Amino acid sequence: MNDQPSRRPRTQGKSGPQGKSGKPYRRPQKDPVRFLAFEALRAVDERDAYANLVLPPLLRKAREKEGPEQFDARDAAFATELVYGTLRRQGTYDAIVAACIDRPLREVDPPVLDVLNLGVHQLLGTRIPSHAAVSASVELARVVLGDGRAKFVNAVLRKVARDDLDGWLEKVAPPYDEDPEDHLAVVHSHPRWVVSALWDSLGGGRAGIEDLLEADNERPEVTLVARPGRSTADELLDSLDADSVLPGRWSPYAVRLSEGGEPGSLEPVREGRAGVQDEGSQLVAIALANAPLEGRDEKWLDGCAGPGGKAAMLAGLAAERGAVLLAAEKQPHRARLVSQALAGNPGPYQVVAADGTRPPWQPGTFDRVLMDVPCTGLGALRRRPEARWRRRPEDLEGFAPLQRGLLRTALESVRVGGVVGYATCSPHLAETRAVVDDVLKQWGAAELVDARALMPGVPALGDGPDVQLWPHVHGTDAMYLAVIRRTG
Ligand SMILES: C[S@@+](CC[C@H](N)C(=O)[O-])C[C@H]1O[C@@H](n2cnc3c(N)ncnc32)[C@H](O)[C@@H]1O
Repeated sequence: MNDQPSRRPRTQGKSGPQGKSGKPYRRPQKDPVRFLAFEALRAVDERDAYANLVLPPLLRKAREKEGPEQFDARDAAFATELVYGTLRRQGTYDAIVAACIDRPLREVDPPVLDVLNLGVHQLLGTRIPSHAAVSASVELARVVLGDGRAKFVNAVLRKVARDDLDGWLEKVAPPYDEDPEDHLAVVHSHPRWVVSALWDSLGGGRAGIEDLLEADNERPEVTLVARPGRSTADELLDSLDADSVLPGRWSPYAVRLSEGGEPGSLEPVREGRAGVQDEGSQLVAIALANAPLEGRDEKWLDGCAGPGGKAAMLAGLAAERGAVLLAAEKQPHRARLVSQALAGNPGPYQVVAADGTRPPWQPGTFDRVLMDVPCTGLGALRRRPEARWRRRPEDLEGFAPLQRGLLRTALESVRVGGVVGYATCSPHLAETRAVVDDVLKQWGAAELVDARALMPGVPALGDGPDVQLWPHVHGTDAMYLAVIRRTG
């Protein structure tokens, strides 16, 4: 349940000509917040847009159109909560709507379903009083769907309003004892195959997986990184508003923003001295930089660098030791983002647009290599509310050859005795251990380093030698890291 203050729709009774019922016809009034939320959901559904990319321009447009007094920061926060909350809880809300209608859900037009789910979220996921949630949703339906379909919305939401979320979950989720995965899928709003995959990787009983799924439904804290050589966490803590910043939990470079806000507008971020970066991602870069190495330590490679979060950190750490980072990225536009992230690095670095499966550099060139490979992103579901509904199990087959190819490149690119970090922001075993096991079986002359020792003070990293971070345990994305030393 979120803590948004209750909001009444901004409807004003404006009378017009008489309607069919004999009542005077009242033109529907557009509530800019709910209208914006609807537009965002439509863009996500119709154009496969990402909510985090679609929202900022819509918010800007609403502020310009309505004026800053009519559409203020609270309105923006409320609209964001409506969009993110509705998308995250879509699985649960679909099940509840399905129980309130007498036809299959797939026969309901997507725009109608969006209005319904927005309404269900206000009824069951916020503190907005039921009558206000229903009337605001019906008003929205009148604006975007027309009066006929608004009646359907009204009828469905009135049924939904008869119970609270717990009551509905008892009715629509199969009992845990009969089908644990289906139960968790409905209660915690994840596709069943995702529940299954996360549970396989996490292991353990019901409590752990429930905590993980719930953590995926929470808004993540915004974490900054003090870029090594350009600022320190203490400097950031001193320079930012003391009431809204906290030190990182694990990374000595991290600062947490307790109030979210717009981190891009903070001076240290604008000047490139700091960046926005999950602490798990920071830990991966630090671990690779600290892996023990005998002999030369001068040339580092980030083979999948875009958009440049880990590369910026590695470049700073490399500069502190007099080493140089080569940041490679296949997509030219993402390579440009890497260049932006690295601009101002205190030491030398290079950025190239290159396909890591056909590398332009000589084999055995590097002392340290990071391969943070493309993956399903199932470890970052908290950040991308729509991602869980878009991903398909078949995606794993698409990534499998690329992930293996890139890890092989990493082993070829590092010198004998050098270290490779293989990382994913997915905990799916098919993208983590299966890739490492397969490639090492073929490669032979390589050994796993105990990566847990490279994250000192971080608890519950698994049985090793690889590490798996978890949102519900560490407060980070579910990043995976295996550290491998090439022995021949
Ligand atoms: C998980 S992201 C890396 C995130 C990055 N390390 C960071 O911390 O900002 C994977 C990146 O690999 C890039 N990529 C995909 N295929 C590639 C290939 N064959 N060679 C190099 N980069 C590739 C993608 O474009 C994407 O930017």
